Amino acid sequence: MDEKNRQFVYYIPTKVYFGPDRLGHLGAELKKWGSRVLLCYGGGSIKRSGLYGRIVESVKGSGLELFELGGIAPNPRIDSVREGAEICRREKIDVVLGAGGGSVIDCAKFIASATFYDGDAWDLLSKHVVTEKCLPVFSVLTMAATGSEMDAGGVISNPETKDKLGGGAPGMQPKVSFLDPTATYTVSQKQTACGSADILSHLYEIYFVPEGESMYMLDRFMEGMMRTVIKYAPVALKEPDNYEARENLMWTSSWAINGFAGAKQQCDWSCHPIEHEVSAIYDITHGLGLAIITPRWMRYVLDETTAPRFKEYGVNVFGLDPAMDTMAAAEKSISLTEDFLFDTLGIPSSFSEIGIGDENIPVMAEKACGGDVLYGYRPLKKDDIEKILRACL
Ligand code: NZQ
Ligand code: ZN
Repeated sequence: MDEKNRQFVYYIPTKVYFGPDRLGHLGAELKKWGSRVLLCYGGGSIKRSGLYGRIVESVKGSGLELFELGGIAPNPRIDSVREGAEICRREKIDVVLGAGGGSVIDCAKFIASATFYDGDAWDLLSKHVVTEKCLPVFSVLTMAATGSEMDAGGVISNPETKDKLGGGAPGMQPKVSFLDPTATYTVSQKQTACGSADILSHLYEIYFVPEGESMYMLDRFMEGMMRTVIKYAPVALKEPDNYEARENLMWTSSWAINGFAGAKQQCDWSCHPIEHEVSAIYDITHGLGLAIITPRWMRYVLDETTAPRFKEYGVNVFGLDPAMDTMAAAEKSISLTEDFLFDTLGIPSSFSEIGIGDENIPVMAEKACGGDVLYGYRPLKKDDIEKILRACL
Protein backbone atom coordinates (compact mmCIF):
# COMPACT_ATOMS: atom_id res chain seq x y z
CA MET A 1 0.00 0.00 0.00
CA ASP A 2 1.13 3.53 -0.81
CA GLU A 3 2.41 5.18 2.38
CA LYS A 4 0.33 8.25 1.56
CA ASN A 5 -2.84 6.16 1.90
CA ARG A 6 -2.01 5.72 5.54
CA GLN A 7 -2.11 9.44 6.29
CA PHE A 8 -5.05 11.63 7.18
CA VAL A 9 -5.89 14.78 9.09
CA TYR A 10 -8.54 14.79 11.79
CA TYR A 11 -10.14 18.21 12.19
CA ILE A 12 -13.86 18.67 12.76
CA PRO A 13 -14.19 22.19 14.11
CA THR A 14 -17.95 22.39 14.74
CA LYS A 15 -19.14 23.07 18.27
CA VAL A 16 -22.34 21.11 18.88
CA TYR A 17 -25.06 21.92 21.39
CA PHE A 18 -27.01 18.67 21.57
CA GLY A 19 -30.36 18.09 23.24
CA PRO A 20 -33.57 19.96 24.00
CA ASP A 21 -33.65 23.57 25.12
CA ARG A 22 -30.15 24.58 24.04
CA LEU A 23 -31.22 27.62 22.00
CA GLY A 24 -30.63 29.82 25.02
CA HIS A 25 -26.96 29.65 23.98
CA LEU A 26 -27.60 30.71 20.39
CA GLY A 27 -27.52 34.47 20.89
CA ALA A 28 -24.37 34.37 23.01
CA GLU A 29 -22.56 32.13 20.51
CA LEU A 30 -23.57 34.33 17.57
CA LYS A 31 -22.40 37.41 19.41
CA LYS A 32 -18.84 36.07 19.36
CA TRP A 33 -18.88 36.48 15.56
CA GLY A 34 -20.72 39.75 15.11
CA SER A 35 -24.01 41.55 15.55
CA ARG A 36 -25.87 41.23 12.23
CA VAL A 37 -27.36 37.82 11.53
CA LEU A 38 -29.02 36.44 8.39
CA LEU A 39 -31.52 33.73 9.31
CA CYS A 40 -32.13 31.32 6.40
CA TYR A 41 -35.03 28.88 6.43
CA GLY A 42 -37.20 26.78 4.15
CA GLY A 43 -40.86 26.56 3.28
CA GLY A 44 -42.22 27.27 6.74
CA SER A 45 -41.80 24.13 8.86
CA ILE A 46 -39.86 26.16 11.46
CA LYS A 47 -42.75 28.61 11.74
CA ARG A 48 -45.33 25.85 12.14
CA SER A 49 -43.26 24.08 14.81
CA GLY A 50 -42.58 27.23 16.85
CA LEU A 51 -38.82 26.95 16.35
CA TYR A 52 -38.72 30.23 14.45
CA GLY A 53 -40.09 32.11 17.46
CA ARG A 54 -37.51 30.55 19.79
CA ILE A 55 -34.65 31.46 17.45
CA VAL A 56 -35.85 35.05 17.09
CA GLU A 57 -36.20 35.33 20.86
CA SER A 58 -32.64 34.11 21.47
CA VAL A 59 -31.09 36.24 18.74
CA LYS A 60 -32.97 39.45 19.50
CA GLY A 61 -32.76 38.84 23.24
CA SER A 62 -28.98 39.05 22.89
CA GLY A 63 -29.26 42.43 21.24
CA LEU A 64 -28.38 41.19 17.75
CA GLU A 65 -29.94 42.44 14.55
CA LEU A 66 -31.85 39.85 12.55
CA PHE A 67 -32.38 39.68 8.77
CA GLU A 68 -34.22 36.88 6.98
CA LEU A 69 -34.22 34.77 3.85
CA GLY A 70 -37.11 32.27 3.81
CA GLY A 71 -38.50 30.01 1.11
CA ILE A 72 -35.33 28.00 0.47
CA ALA A 73 -36.52 24.94 -1.45
CA PRO A 74 -35.58 21.29 -0.95
CA ASN A 75 -32.78 20.68 -3.47
CA PRO A 76 -31.89 24.36 -2.93
CA ARG A 77 -31.59 26.57 -5.98
CA ILE A 78 -28.72 28.80 -6.95
CA ASP A 79 -31.16 31.74 -7.06
CA SER A 80 -31.53 31.54 -3.28
CA VAL A 81 -27.74 31.64 -2.93
CA ARG A 82 -27.58 34.71 -5.16
CA GLU A 83 -30.36 36.42 -3.21
CA GLY A 84 -28.79 35.59 0.16
CA ALA A 85 -25.34 36.82 -0.87
CA GLU A 86 -26.92 40.05 -2.07
CA ILE A 87 -28.59 40.55 1.32
CA CYS A 88 -25.30 39.83 3.12
CA ARG A 89 -23.44 42.44 1.10
CA ARG A 90 -26.20 45.03 1.32
CA GLU A 91 -26.87 44.60 5.03
CA LYS A 92 -23.27 43.96 6.06
CA ILE A 93 -24.17 40.62 7.61
CA ASP A 94 -21.69 39.10 10.08
CA VAL A 95 -23.06 35.55 10.46
CA VAL A 96 -25.30 33.28 8.35
CA LEU A 97 -27.62 31.03 10.35
CA GLY A 98 -29.38 28.14 8.58
CA ALA A 99 -32.40 26.70 10.41
CA GLY A 100 -33.77 23.61 8.69
CA GLY A 101 -32.67 20.45 6.95
CA GLY A 102 -29.70 19.92 4.67
CA SER A 103 -31.13 22.11 1.93
CA VAL A 104 -31.29 25.21 4.11
CA ILE A 105 -27.90 24.61 5.72
CA ASP A 106 -26.23 23.93 2.35
CA CYS A 107 -27.72 27.14 0.98
CA ALA A 108 -26.49 29.08 4.03
CA LYS A 109 -22.97 27.76 3.43
CA PHE A 110 -22.86 28.92 -0.17
CA ILE A 111 -24.41 32.27 0.71
CA ALA A 112 -21.63 32.74 3.25
CA SER A 113 -19.00 32.14 0.60
CA ALA A 114 -20.70 33.84 -2.37
CA THR A 115 -20.87 37.06 -0.34
CA PHE A 116 -17.15 37.48 -1.06
CA TYR A 117 -17.30 36.54 -4.73
CA ASP A 118 -17.66 39.19 -7.42
CA GLY A 119 -18.76 36.84 -10.19
CA ASP A 120 -21.88 34.69 -10.46
CA ALA A 121 -22.43 32.46 -7.41
CA TRP A 122 -22.89 29.41 -9.67
CA ASP A 123 -19.12 29.55 -10.37
CA LEU A 124 -18.57 28.30 -6.82
CA LEU A 125 -20.13 25.02 -7.94
CA SER A 126 -19.47 24.83 -11.66
CA LYS A 127 -15.90 26.14 -11.57
CA HIS A 128 -15.05 24.99 -8.04
CA VAL A 129 -14.21 28.55 -7.01
CA VAL A 130 -13.18 28.73 -3.36
CA THR A 131 -13.39 32.22 -1.93
CA GLU A 132 -10.62 33.42 0.31
CA LYS A 133 -13.12 34.66 2.86
CA CYS A 134 -16.40 33.14 4.03
CA LEU A 135 -18.87 34.43 6.60
CA PRO A 136 -19.19 32.19 9.66
CA VAL A 137 -22.03 29.68 9.32
CA PHE A 138 -24.27 28.44 12.16
CA SER A 139 -26.94 25.76 11.93
CA VAL A 140 -30.08 24.80 13.80
CA LEU A 141 -30.86 21.34 12.47
CA THR A 142 -34.45 20.14 12.04
CA MET A 143 -33.96 16.87 10.17
CA ALA A 144 -31.61 13.90 10.54
CA ALA A 145 -30.22 13.10 7.11
CA THR A 146 -27.44 14.91 5.30
CA GLY A 147 -24.92 15.68 8.02
CA SER A 148 -24.59 19.21 6.64
CA GLU A 149 -24.64 20.38 10.27
CA MET A 150 -21.16 18.99 10.80
CA ASP A 151 -19.43 18.98 7.42
CA ALA A 152 -17.96 21.57 5.09
CA GLY A 153 -19.87 20.59 1.94
CA GLY A 154 -23.13 21.38 0.25
CA VAL A 155 -25.14 20.66 -2.87
CA ILE A 156 -26.91 23.28 -4.99
CA SER A 157 -29.24 22.91 -8.00
CA ASN A 158 -29.41 25.01 -11.11
CA PRO A 159 -32.81 24.44 -12.75
CA GLU A 160 -31.74 26.34 -15.89
CA THR A 161 -28.91 23.94 -16.69
CA LYS A 162 -30.51 20.96 -14.93
CA ASP A 163 -27.35 20.52 -12.89
CA LYS A 164 -27.06 19.64 -9.23
CA LEU A 165 -23.49 20.08 -8.07
CA GLY A 166 -21.63 19.60 -4.83
CA GLY A 167 -18.81 21.65 -3.46
CA GLY A 168 -17.34 22.86 -0.26
CA ALA A 169 -14.50 24.55 1.53
CA PRO A 170 -13.19 24.50 5.10
CA GLY A 171 -14.65 27.96 5.71
CA MET A 172 -18.16 26.61 5.15
CA GLN A 173 -17.97 24.19 8.07
CA PRO A 174 -20.57 25.35 10.60
CA LYS A 175 -18.89 27.03 13.57
CA VAL A 176 -21.71 26.04 15.89
CA SER A 177 -24.63 23.65 15.34
CA PHE A 178 -27.68 23.18 17.52
CA LEU A 179 -29.02 19.63 17.43
CA ASP A 180 -32.29 19.17 19.25
CA PRO A 181 -33.87 15.78 18.55
CA THR A 182 -37.29 17.10 19.61
CA ALA A 183 -37.12 19.52 16.64
CA THR A 184 -37.39 16.45 14.40
CA TYR A 185 -40.65 15.16 15.93
CA THR A 186 -42.60 16.94 13.18
CA VAL A 187 -40.61 15.46 10.27
CA SER A 188 -43.00 13.51 8.02
CA GLN A 189 -42.87 9.73 7.63
CA LYS A 190 -41.57 10.13 4.10
CA GLN A 191 -38.75 12.49 5.10
CA THR A 192 -37.89 10.36 8.15
CA ALA A 193 -37.57 7.30 5.92
CA CYS A 194 -35.63 9.10 3.17
CA GLY A 195 -33.37 10.84 5.68
CA SER A 196 -32.55 7.45 7.22
CA ALA A 197 -31.76 6.05 3.77
CA ASP A 198 -29.45 9.01 3.19
CA ILE A 199 -27.58 8.36 6.45
CA LEU A 200 -27.16 4.70 5.51
CA SER A 201 -25.92 5.68 2.06
CA HIS A 202 -23.29 8.00 3.53
CA LEU A 203 -22.06 5.01 5.50
CA TYR A 204 -22.10 2.65 2.51
CA GLU A 205 -20.15 5.18 0.45
CA ILE A 206 -17.30 5.09 2.97
CA TYR A 207 -17.61 1.42 4.03
CA PHE A 208 -17.49 -0.13 0.57
CA VAL A 209 -14.02 1.05 -0.34
CA PRO A 210 -10.95 -0.70 -1.75
CA GLU A 211 -8.71 -2.63 0.64
CA GLY A 212 -6.70 -0.35 2.91
CA GLU A 213 -9.01 2.66 2.61
CA SER A 214 -10.64 1.95 5.96
CA MET A 215 -9.44 0.36 9.18
CA TYR A 216 -10.78 -2.21 11.62
CA MET A 217 -11.74 0.38 14.20
CA LEU A 218 -13.58 2.53 11.65
CA ASP A 219 -15.35 -0.50 10.13
CA ARG A 220 -16.81 -1.43 13.49
CA PHE A 221 -17.80 2.19 14.13
CA MET A 222 -19.58 2.39 10.76
CA GLU A 223 -21.35 -0.93 11.30
CA GLY A 224 -22.50 0.38 14.68
CA MET A 225 -23.97 3.44 13.01
CA MET A 226 -25.70 1.30 10.35
CA ARG A 227 -27.20 -0.85 13.09
CA THR A 228 -28.36 2.29 14.85
CA VAL A 229 -30.29 3.47 11.78
CA ILE A 230 -31.74 0.00 11.24
CA LYS A 231 -32.85 -0.17 14.89
CA TYR A 232 -34.22 3.33 15.31
CA ALA A 233 -35.63 4.49 11.96
CA PRO A 234 -38.59 2.09 12.24
CA VAL A 235 -39.19 3.31 15.81
CA ALA A 236 -39.22 6.96 14.65
CA LEU A 237 -41.66 6.05 11.89
CA LYS A 238 -44.04 4.43 14.35
CA GLU A 239 -43.58 6.93 17.16
CA PRO A 240 -42.47 10.30 15.72
CA ASP A 241 -41.92 11.73 19.20
CA ASN A 242 -39.76 8.92 20.52
CA TYR A 243 -36.78 10.86 21.87
CA GLU A 244 -34.40 7.92 21.99
CA ALA A 245 -35.02 7.13 18.31
CA ARG A 246 -34.73 10.74 17.19
CA GLU A 247 -31.54 11.41 19.17
CA ASN A 248 -29.87 8.29 17.80
CA LEU A 249 -30.78 9.17 14.22
CA MET A 250 -29.70 12.78 14.63
CA TRP A 251 -26.27 12.09 16.08
CA THR A 252 -25.68 9.31 13.54
CA SER A 253 -26.55 11.70 10.71
CA SER A 254 -23.76 14.00 11.87
CA TRP A 255 -21.11 11.33 12.43
CA ALA A 256 -21.79 9.36 9.26
CA ILE A 257 -20.36 12.12 7.09
CA ASN A 258 -18.33 14.47 9.25
CA GLY A 259 -15.03 13.11 7.98
CA PHE A 260 -14.19 10.88 10.92
CA ALA A 261 -15.26 7.47 9.63
CA GLY A 262 -14.25 8.19 6.03
CA ALA A 263 -10.85 9.58 6.97
CA LYS A 264 -8.79 7.07 4.98
CA GLN A 265 -10.98 6.93 1.88
CA GLN A 266 -9.30 7.74 -1.43
CA CYS A 267 -11.90 6.53 -3.95
CA ASP A 268 -14.93 8.49 -5.14
CA TRP A 269 -18.42 7.95 -3.85
CA SER A 270 -20.67 5.94 -6.19
CA CYS A 271 -24.40 6.24 -5.47
CA HIS A 272 -24.36 9.95 -4.58
CA PRO A 273 -23.03 11.23 -7.92
CA ILE A 274 -25.60 9.05 -9.69
CA GLU A 275 -28.46 10.20 -7.47
CA HIS A 276 -27.57 13.87 -7.81
CA GLU A 277 -28.14 13.56 -11.57
CA VAL A 278 -31.56 12.05 -10.92
CA SER A 279 -32.65 14.76 -8.50
CA ALA A 280 -31.15 17.44 -10.78
CA ILE A 281 -33.65 16.50 -13.48
CA TYR A 282 -36.62 15.16 -11.54
CA ASP A 283 -36.31 17.21 -8.32
CA ILE A 284 -36.95 14.14 -6.16
CA THR A 285 -36.01 13.78 -2.50
CA HIS A 286 -32.31 12.88 -2.27
CA GLY A 287 -32.77 9.91 0.09
CA LEU A 288 -35.53 8.48 -2.07
CA GLY A 289 -33.26 8.39 -5.11
CA LEU A 290 -30.48 6.84 -3.06
CA ALA A 291 -32.74 4.12 -1.67
CA ILE A 292 -33.73 3.05 -5.18
CA ILE A 293 -30.21 3.18 -6.61
CA THR A 294 -28.25 1.62 -3.73
CA PRO A 295 -29.31 -2.06 -3.93
CA ARG A 296 -28.95 -1.98 -7.75
CA TRP A 297 -25.45 -0.58 -7.39
CA MET A 298 -24.63 -3.23 -4.76
CA ARG A 299 -25.73 -6.03 -7.07
CA TYR A 300 -23.83 -4.48 -9.97
CA VAL A 301 -20.51 -4.33 -8.14
CA LEU A 302 -20.93 -7.71 -6.46
CA ASP A 303 -18.39 -10.24 -7.70
CA GLU A 304 -15.90 -12.65 -6.16
CA THR A 305 -13.58 -9.84 -5.14
CA THR A 306 -16.24 -7.69 -3.44
CA ALA A 307 -18.32 -10.52 -1.94
CA PRO A 308 -16.21 -10.83 1.25
CA ARG A 309 -16.91 -7.17 2.10
CA PHE A 310 -20.65 -7.58 1.51
CA LYS A 311 -20.57 -10.68 3.70
CA GLU A 312 -18.73 -8.77 6.44
CA TYR A 313 -21.49 -6.15 6.27
CA GLY A 314 -24.20 -8.82 6.45
CA VAL A 315 -22.61 -10.62 9.38
CA ASN A 316 -21.89 -7.53 11.46
CA VAL A 317 -24.97 -5.46 10.60
CA PHE A 318 -27.72 -8.02 10.00
CA GLY A 319 -26.33 -10.81 12.15
CA LEU A 320 -25.84 -13.36 9.33
CA ASP A 321 -24.11 -16.59 10.24
CA PRO A 322 -20.35 -16.17 9.63
CA ALA A 323 -20.25 -19.80 8.49
CA MET A 324 -22.39 -18.99 5.44
CA ASP A 325 -20.93 -19.34 1.97
CA THR A 326 -19.38 -15.98 1.04
CA MET A 327 -21.37 -15.27 -2.12
CA ALA A 328 -24.64 -16.49 -0.60
CA ALA A 329 -24.07 -14.25 2.42
CA ALA A 330 -23.23 -11.28 0.19
CA GLU A 331 -26.43 -11.76 -1.80
CA LYS A 332 -28.46 -12.15 1.38
CA SER A 333 -26.97 -8.89 2.73
CA ILE A 334 -28.14 -7.03 -0.35
CA SER A 335 -31.63 -8.47 -0.20
CA LEU A 336 -31.86 -7.59 3.50
CA THR A 337 -30.83 -4.05 2.61
CA GLU A 338 -33.68 -3.96 0.08
CA ASP A 339 -36.15 -5.35 2.59
CA PHE A 340 -35.16 -2.67 5.06
CA LEU A 341 -35.41 0.24 2.62
CA PHE A 342 -38.55 -0.80 0.78
CA ASP A 343 -40.54 -2.90 3.26
CA THR A 344 -39.55 -1.59 6.69
CA LEU A 345 -39.11 2.07 5.71
CA GLY A 346 -41.79 1.93 3.02
CA ILE A 347 -39.75 3.81 0.40
CA PRO A 348 -40.90 3.30 -3.23
CA SER A 349 -38.67 0.67 -4.79
CA SER A 350 -38.40 1.74 -8.43
CA PHE A 351 -38.25 4.76 -10.71
CA SER A 352 -41.50 3.79 -12.40
CA GLU A 353 -43.32 4.08 -9.07
CA ILE A 354 -42.25 7.72 -8.85
CA GLY A 355 -42.87 8.61 -12.49
CA ILE A 356 -39.31 8.41 -13.80
CA GLY A 357 -38.84 6.77 -17.21
CA ASP A 358 -35.78 5.91 -19.26
CA GLU A 359 -35.76 9.14 -21.29
CA ASN A 360 -32.82 10.77 -19.50
CA ILE A 361 -30.74 7.74 -18.57
CA PRO A 362 -27.92 8.34 -21.10
CA VAL A 363 -27.49 11.98 -20.11
CA MET A 364 -27.64 11.19 -16.37
CA ALA A 365 -25.05 8.42 -16.81
CA GLU A 366 -22.76 10.65 -18.85
CA LYS A 367 -22.85 13.45 -16.28
CA ALA A 368 -22.50 11.14 -13.26
CA CYS A 369 -19.11 9.93 -14.49
CA GLY A 370 -18.09 13.35 -15.78
CA GLY A 371 -17.90 11.88 -19.29
CA ASP A 372 -15.08 9.63 -18.11
CA VAL A 373 -14.92 7.19 -15.19
CA LEU A 374 -16.40 7.37 -11.72
CA TYR A 375 -13.58 5.93 -9.63
CA GLY A 376 -15.70 4.50 -6.83
CA TYR A 377 -15.48 1.17 -4.99
CA ARG A 378 -15.52 -0.27 -8.48
CA PRO A 379 -14.76 2.08 -11.41
CA LEU A 380 -17.94 2.87 -13.32
CA LYS A 381 -18.09 4.11 -16.90
CA LYS A 382 -21.10 5.60 -18.60
CA ASP A 383 -22.23 2.15 -19.76
CA ASP A 384 -22.08 0.74 -16.25
CA ILE A 385 -24.08 3.63 -14.81
CA GLU A 386 -26.68 3.26 -17.55
CA LYS A 387 -27.11 -0.37 -16.57
CA ILE A 388 -27.50 0.54 -12.89
CA LEU A 389 -30.07 3.21 -13.75
CA ARG A 390 -32.00 0.85 -16.04
CA ALA A 391 -32.14 -1.70 -13.23
CA CYS A 392 -33.90 1.02 -11.17
CA LEU A 393 -36.78 1.35 -13.65
O1 NZQ B 1 -38.59 23.65 3.86
P1 NZQ B 1 -39.23 23.29 5.16
O2 NZQ B 1 -40.55 23.91 5.35
O3 NZQ B 1 -38.31 23.47 6.33
O4 NZQ B 1 -39.60 21.70 5.05
C1 NZQ B 1 -38.61 20.69 4.85
C2 NZQ B 1 -38.60 20.15 3.42
O5 NZQ B 1 -39.86 20.25 2.83
C3 NZQ B 1 -39.03 19.49 5.63
N1 NZQ B 1 -38.59 19.54 7.02
C4 NZQ B 1 -37.32 19.71 7.49
N2 NZQ B 1 -37.33 19.67 8.84
C5 NZQ B 1 -38.62 19.51 9.22
C6 NZQ B 1 -39.41 19.43 8.06
N3 NZQ B 1 -40.75 19.27 8.12
C7 NZQ B 1 -41.31 19.18 9.34
N4 NZQ B 1 -40.60 19.24 10.48
C8 NZQ B 1 -39.26 19.41 10.47
N5 NZQ B 1 -38.58 19.44 11.62
O6 NZQ B 1 -38.41 18.39 4.99
C9 NZQ B 1 -38.30 18.68 3.61
C10 NZQ B 1 -36.93 18.28 3.13
O7 NZQ B 1 -35.94 19.12 3.69
P2 NZQ B 1 -34.45 19.12 3.12
O8 NZQ B 1 -33.67 20.11 3.87
O9 NZQ B 1 -34.49 19.21 1.64
O10 NZQ B 1 -33.97 17.63 3.47
P3 NZQ B 1 -32.55 17.04 3.69
O11 NZQ B 1 -32.05 17.35 5.05
O12 NZQ B 1 -32.65 15.62 3.31
O13 NZQ B 1 -31.60 17.82 2.65
C11 NZQ B 1 -31.49 17.39 1.30
C12 NZQ B 1 -30.48 18.21 0.55
O14 NZQ B 1 -29.15 18.08 1.08
C13 NZQ B 1 -28.25 17.61 0.06
C14 NZQ B 1 -29.18 16.83 -0.85
O15 NZQ B 1 -28.63 16.58 -2.12
C15 NZQ B 1 -30.38 17.75 -0.90
O16 NZQ B 1 -30.18 18.81 -1.78
N6 NZQ B 1 -27.13 16.88 0.65
C16 NZQ B 1 -26.22 17.57 1.38
C17 NZQ B 1 -25.10 16.97 1.91
C18 NZQ B 1 -24.10 17.71 2.71
N7 NZQ B 1 -24.25 18.99 2.94
O17 NZQ B 1 -23.11 17.14 3.16
C19 NZQ B 1 -24.80 15.55 1.69
C20 NZQ B 1 -25.98 14.78 1.26
O18 NZQ B 1 -25.53 13.59 0.67
C21 NZQ B 1 -26.90 15.48 0.30
O19 NZQ B 1 -26.45 15.42 -1.04
ZN1 ZN C 1 -26.62 12.01 0.93
